[in-house]
Amino acid sequence: MSFRNEPILELRRAPARESLLEALRGLDARLPLEVPILVGGERGAASGLDSTDPGAPDRLVARAGSATEADAAAAVEAAERGFREWSPRPAAERAEVLRRAAAILRERRLELAALQVRECAKPWPEADGDVCEAIDFLEYYALEAIELDAGRPLVQVPGERNTMRYAPRGVAAVISPWNFPLAIPCGMTAAALAAGNAAVLKPAEQSPGSAGALVDALHEAGVPREALSLLPGYGEPGAALVRDPRVHVIAFTGSSAVGLDILRAAAETPEGQGHVKRVVSEMGGKNCVIVDADADLDEVVPELVYSAFGYAGQKCSAAARVLVHEAAADTLLERLAGAVSVLDVGQADRFATEVPPVIEREAQERVLRYAAMGEPVAQAQSVPPEGWFCPPTLLADLPDDSSVLSEEVFGPLLALTRVRSVDEACDIVDALPFALTGGLFSRSPATVERVAARVPVGNLYVNRGITGAMVGRQPFGGNRRSGIGSKAGGPDYLLQFVEPRVVTENTMRHGIPVD
Ligand SMILES: NC(=O)c1ccc[n+]([C@@H]2O[C@H](COP(=O)([O-])OP(=O)(O)OC[C@H]3O[C@@H](n4cnc5c(N)ncnc54)[C@H](O)[C@@H]3O)[C@@H](O)[C@H]2O)c1
Repeated sequence: MSFRNEPILELRRAPARESLLEALRGLDARLPLEVPILVGGERGAASGLDSTDPGAPDRLVARAGSATEADAAAAVEAAERGFREWSPRPAAERAEVLRRAAAILRERRLELAALQVRECAKPWPEADGDVCEAIDFLEYYALEAIELDAGRPLVQVPGERNTMRYAPRGVAAVISPWNFPLAIPCGMTAAALAAGNAAVLKPAEQSPGSAGALVDALHEAGVPREALSLLPGYGEPGAALVRDPRVHVIAFTGSSAVGLDILRAAAETPEGQGHVKRVVSEMGGKNCVIVDADADLDEVVPELVYSAFGYAGQKCSAAARVLVHEAAADTLLERLAGAVSVLDVGQADRFATEVPPVIEREAQERVLRYAAMGEPVAQAQSVPPEGWFCPPTLLADLPDDSSVLSEEVFGPLLALTRVRSVDEACDIVDALPFALTGGLFSRSPATVERVAARVPVGNLYVNRGITGAMVGRQPFGGNRRSGIGSKAGGPDYLLQFVEPRVVTENTMRHGIPVD
């Protein structure tokens, strides 16, 4: 069986749009959703944590439990039992369960997309893409788990048999962000389960509804309840999971500050903990797009604008800086300014919206603070009064020490810097501690080759936008301070959730024992 990406909806077609709106009406009638803490199949509290619509903060989207340290401890205890039930199942059986979960998400894709529109203000194309990506992760890791289970071939010599197999590690703590509210928790959880681990999912406090839908689908598909618990809540249950000596592997995606804290905490190996924790930590970025003097600006402008402002710049892969050759800088700046000033800023449920609100008040304040560090070259003018909106902003020619140029803003803000050459642009990229994604627009094959060899980023996109990595096609993840781990949606990812075991047997006969 081979892997194919789930086709996205054709939103240019009116019936596709109408079907989404109908799903949204259905969802609205059911709000607020109830998302209880789920520990080993026991339903716990479903209050203490409210998720609201970033575009209409009075709208309550989900009422969730707020898990505590004690809930985290109970979830790990359940996971230890769940591991004993789940891990002996043949890889093909586990894969089948994941595929069933993919089928359930497929069946519910419209309402799941609608939920992201409400819970995270994701515009329709991105919300639909996120659901497709979640389905892709389930299908892809299901296939990968079967392949991994076959082990790897080793050199054999006469009289000796060598085998290399992979065993699940045990209990996996999965800690996810809100910006891909279904796809990212789904990817990390699916990988842990596919490889035979039990999982405890601690989703972001901003998106418990989407995480609840994911866990429901996995349970319904056949993942034993003790092998998958859900801990909606703030940071506290996440921190408790990270420190629990019974946790074997931690899969985290989120900010650098939290990721580094997790790495430090997980390195503690107290007396009595019989293993060293494995940490997969995918963190933030400061993604640069290099534009060479010979670039086709007709191509650059729309791709760059979408990369920087799509989903209000809240994708980890989003463009934050453009490093443009001085020969093209004035023209690019003028054209970018024109494009930014007419961006359609609005509610996520409108199909015309290009820039939705940011996730919460704190994010709005942060983005506005950074945007005020320069003189805007362009700013979208019309911004709805209600909701956590920030006007998309273009800054240019900031001083080298401006924190806008080095810190992750995670919002609709793009900073342009002029460079004398592509090599100078590469030096700038090289000097940044982050190395998640990057882009290059150039018509010269030699330049493309040189830049690809030089820049340290995890995912470099050439002559196209820098967001929208597809499972299996663009395995995704950062380098340097943007992440440690092999790329999500790629052939090495599952290796992080298993332990390799080599058995070497002397096959020379020594006689057969007879009782
Ligand atoms: N590299 C990638 O693939 C990737 C993908 C998506 C998002 N991101 C990054 O994620 C960030 C945005 O997401 P966010 O705001 O949800 O990130 P965040 O770090 O604030 O939160 C992520 C998760 O960690 C939990 N958490 C908070 N404090 C914790 C602690 N002390 N111990 C354990 N868990 C804790 C949160 O509750 C949440 O579930 C951005 O920096 C973005 O670049 C990276």
